[in-house]
Amino acid sequence: MAEFALPRNSKIREGKTHRAENVSEKPNIKHFSIYRWSPDDAENPRMDTYEVDLNLCGPMVLDALIYIKDHVDSSLTFRRSCREGICGSCAMNIDGTNTLACTKSIEDVSGNVRITPLPHMHVIKDLVPDLNNFYAQYASIEPWIQTYSAAPANGERLQSPEDRAKLDGTDECILCACCSTSCPSYWWNGDRYLGPAILLQAYRWIADSRDEATGERLDNLEDSYKLYRCHTIMNCTKTCPKGLNPAKAIGKIKELLIQRQ
Ligand code: SF4
Ligand code: SF4
Ligand code: FES
Repeated sequence: MAEFALPRNSKIREGKTHRAENVSEKPNIKHFSIYRWSPDDAENPRMDTYEVDLNLCGPMVLDALIYIKDHVDSSLTFRRSCREGICGSCAMNIDGTNTLACTKSIEDVSGNVRITPLPHMHVIKDLVPDLNNFYAQYASIEPWIQTYSAAPANGERLQSPEDRAKLDGTDECILCACCSTSCPSYWWNGDRYLGPAILLQAYRWIADSRDEATGERLDNLEDSYKLYRCHTIMNCTKTCPKGLNPAKAIGKIKELLIQRQ
């Protein structure tokens, strides 16, 4: 039987343990095991462990990361902005699931909290994945309204409440990439398969009654890689922290392509 060995620099080693130094009167210590890697040295990635007294930080995983950065180890690197599940920047893998650190309660994780970057992406540093390809794919679907007809006299293209309702479940997407980076097809073909997040966004513009470029949008997606690498495994829908259903949107695009044949 063939035997395989991982390249030396792909192995993750145990890192440092940072004991809690400042603690409250009755400390409630939780361990956070966090992926660390820096392009600035030739070291392998490592998992550092941080003890945090939960009485001293807020209730969410992002609160613990901010506490660690502010009080224990300022070199820890991660993205965050809104702290309200709106911007999508704090997406990471927590306890084995891609999710938003700012909406993931520490209490919901039993035992140690294990935090790694979104999987199968190049890592820029620590918990920061390289999303350049993801954003280029987003740009490729031309995510804005396109029209050919003359603008109405009052300048506004109106939409009925019923047509507006067709966008529900699509325009709440915050482009966090949790779904795409949980999709096996995206892991293996992320350079050519658009992945669930971008396909959900593509459907958002196809479904918009005001948009007049539906034909061109479907032409752009009718491709064995861009769309048809989705094999309905449903990881995307299971992991979306906003409760959206990208797999359903992908199914609708496929239906529209069949209908127009
Ligand atoms: S349903 Fe499609 S997009 Fe979603 S995880 Fe499966 S293969 Fe990926
Ligand atoms: S569909 Fe959900 S998981 Fe995917 S990018 Fe949008 S908000 Fe994030
Ligand atoms: S910080 Fe904006 S979604 Fe978490």
